[in-house]
Amino acid sequence: PSLDEIVNLHDFEAVAKAILPPKAWAYYSSASDDEITIRENRAAYQRIWFRPRVLRDVSVVDWSTTILGRRSSLPVYISATALGKLGHPDGELNLTRAAGKHGVIQMIPTLASCSFDEIVDAAVPGQVQFVQLYVNRDREITRKYVQHAEKRGVKGLFITVDAPQLGRREKDMRMKFVDESGVAKVQENQSGVKKDEGVARAISSFIDPSLSWKDIPWFKSITNMPIVLKGVATPEDALMAYDHGLAGIVLSNHGGRQLDTARSGVENLIEVVAALKTRGPWPNPRFEVFVDGGIRRASDVLKAIALGASAVGVGRAFMYSFCAYGQDGVEKAFQIFREELEMNMRLLGARTIDELTPEMVDASALHSH
Ligand code: FNR
Repeated sequence: PSLDEIVNLHDFEAVAKAILPPKAWAYYSSASDDEITIRENRAAYQRIWFRPRVLRDVSVVDWSTTILGRRSSLPVYISATALGKLGHPDGELNLTRAAGKHGVIQMIPTLASCSFDEIVDAAVPGQVQFVQLYVNRDREITRKYVQHAEKRGVKGLFITVDAPQLGRREKDMRMKFVDESGVAKVQENQSGVKKDEGVARAISSFIDPSLSWKDIPWFKSITNMPIVLKGVATPEDALMAYDHGLAGIVLSNHGGRQLDTARSGVENLIEVVAALKTRGPWPNPRFEVFVDGGIRRASDVLKAIALGASAVGVGRAFMYSFCAYGQDGVEKAFQIFREELEMNMRLLGARTIDELTPEMVDASALHSH
């Protein structure tokens, strides 16, 4: 279909499935084991209901916000997803260019298939980018990578903490690793690449499973970027992150690709925010909570923010949007978010992101399933 015929983000997924080579589709779409968590990521939002307010003069609505203190035109950022070139020859640059044009923040993955510098070079002046980090067993490689990112103007460091070992994505494992453009680039940048276990395993064998809370002071010593832990799932760890002086957490299960039957990020949000409230008033200017996983509609975004998240991350939906249409597809995905945000905020009675409050959702069915 032409881009004009794309009406919602689900449409991009259907197109990607139809046009991608089987190996690329398997890598992008797969999740771990029985893929229960990936389904739950969508299902959880369907157990949250709105409590809309009326007669609030919603002639003007504004969904722009700040993320780690940086302006963002959407309350949504592009989460790190590896190997963009499996989907489109321009890979991650599709995201960078669209994001630069529309004031959206991109998180650059360690396992990008374009080089880090290519992605930063493709940004326009003032464009905000974050970086996602897989910590290498060789800490010198990690130190250089982080410090280079900071020197190049990256504004936030997201350390992925839910992947000491890659989950078994069985669809992907059935596809043998075949060397090709984007994948070769990853091999250049990180040592210890294996070639016999599907794409995901092949590119991730450098990741250090010994990473622990003891390493946090070291990260703080090597960078001034705000540090966020990506892949937290409990109030216990949220408080650990807070007490270690970090800037925030992403409640995430890695798009269902790691521990299967882990709960969804949005289900964990309520108890995480309740725990953080014991440390001071919420929202807390020192600490932000993000949520990702299963976001496909502006209504999902608004629910997470109403429950206390400052913004949400989107992985697959943006990846799928560039497979057939390149940068134009990503721009269209932003436009769909804008149109859905405008309508849903009007119908909900919230003129700004700050006006989204817990009273606007009924989450009483969230935990009963
Ligand atoms: C990811 N994700 C991910 N996360 C990360 O920290 N480093 C990475 O390299 C990747 N790579 C990656 C590849 C692919 C193909 C997918 C689908 C996901 C996880 C990603 O950042 C995010 O947490 C999820 O994608 C969010 O769920 P949705 O939006 O895909 O449902």
